[in-house]
Amino acid sequence: MSICFLNGEYLEIQDAKISPLDRGFLFGDSIYEVIIAVNKRPFELESHLKRLNKNLSTLKYSLSNRTDLEEIILEVISRNKFFNQVIYLQISRGTDIIRDHIPGNNLSPTIFVSSHELQTDFSPSSGEKAILLEDFRWRKSQIKATSLLANVLYRSEAKHQEVFETILYENGFITEGAVSNVFCCIKNKIFTPPITDNILPGVTRKVILELIKEMSLEYEERKISVDSFLSAEEIWVTNSTKGIVPIIKLDGKNIGTGSPGEKYLQISKAFIDRLSS
Ligand code: PDD
Repeated sequence: MSICFLNGEYLEIQDAKISPLDRGFLFGDSIYEVIIAVNKRPFELESHLKRLNKNLSTLKYSLSNRTDLEEIILEVISRNKFFNQVIYLQISRGTDIIRDHIPGNNLSPTIFVSSHELQTDFSPSSGEKAILLEDFRWRKSQIKATSLLANVLYRSEAKHQEVFETILYENGFITEGAVSNVFCCIKNKIFTPPITDNILPGVTRKVILELIKEMSLEYEERKISVDSFLSAEEIWVTNSTKGIVPIIKLDGKNIGTGSPGEKYLQISKAFIDRLSS
C-alpha cells in the first residue's frame, strides 16, 4: 500500500476519507497537479507549484499561510518506497454544510497528495497512434481543474479505438491532447499551439520548448490548422507521466514516414538527460 497526505495527516491510502459534501466531489470545484519524482527527486516542482498557485488565486481558494505544499510533497515522496513515483495533488475549495452552488464563507480547502509507482522509463518510443476529435471542453482549459468528464470521454474513445491519445481541434485549429500538449514539425520547423488557445500550459511542454531553444532548432508557438497538422512530418504529444511520445499514425494515416522522426529522436534524448540532471 502507499502513504498519502490528507488535511494535515499522513495516512495509509485506504484509511483516507473525505466528506460527500466536499465541493470537489459535488461540483468538481477542485484543481490538481501530476508531478513525477525520479530517484525520489521531484521533476520541475517549481513549475508545477507556480501553475498550481496561479490556479489557486484564479479560483480564490484560501489556503492557510501555514500550509507548505512543497514540504508535504517531499514528505509523501520520502514516505513511499518507490524510487520513481507519480505524485497526485488535489485541492478542493473545501467541505460545505449543505450542497449549494455558491460556496459557503471561510471554507478550508481539502488537500490530498498521493503517490504510486511511475512505470514509464522514458526511453525512445517506436511510435503510437492517435485520433482527431472536435474539442467540446469548456472555455477555461488553462485551469488544471478536476472537472474532467470531457477528457474521460476522449480517453475512453482512444481506448475503444486502440490508440494512444485523442488530439483535439476547435474551429479548424489544433488545441491539445485529452491528457497532453501537442507539437508538430512542418518543413523542418517545429510548431505548438500558443497557451492563449484554451490549452493547459503543460510543464513538459515548457521543458521541451527550453530544450528546442538550447538546441537552436527552428520553432514557433502558433495556431496550427488541422490541414497543416495532417501534412506534418512529425507529431509528438507531451505530458509529465509519459514524457514526449511520437504519433506515427493519425486517424489511420501515416504521419511522415510512419516511424519516429529525427527531431523526436534528438529531443527525446535531450529530455532523458534533463530528467536525470
Ligand atoms: N495531464 N493537457 C492536458 C489536458 C493534460 O491533462 C495534461 C497532463 C497536459 C500536460 O501537462 P504536463 O506536461 O504539465 O503534465 C496537457 C496529467 C498528466 C493528468 O491529467 O494525469
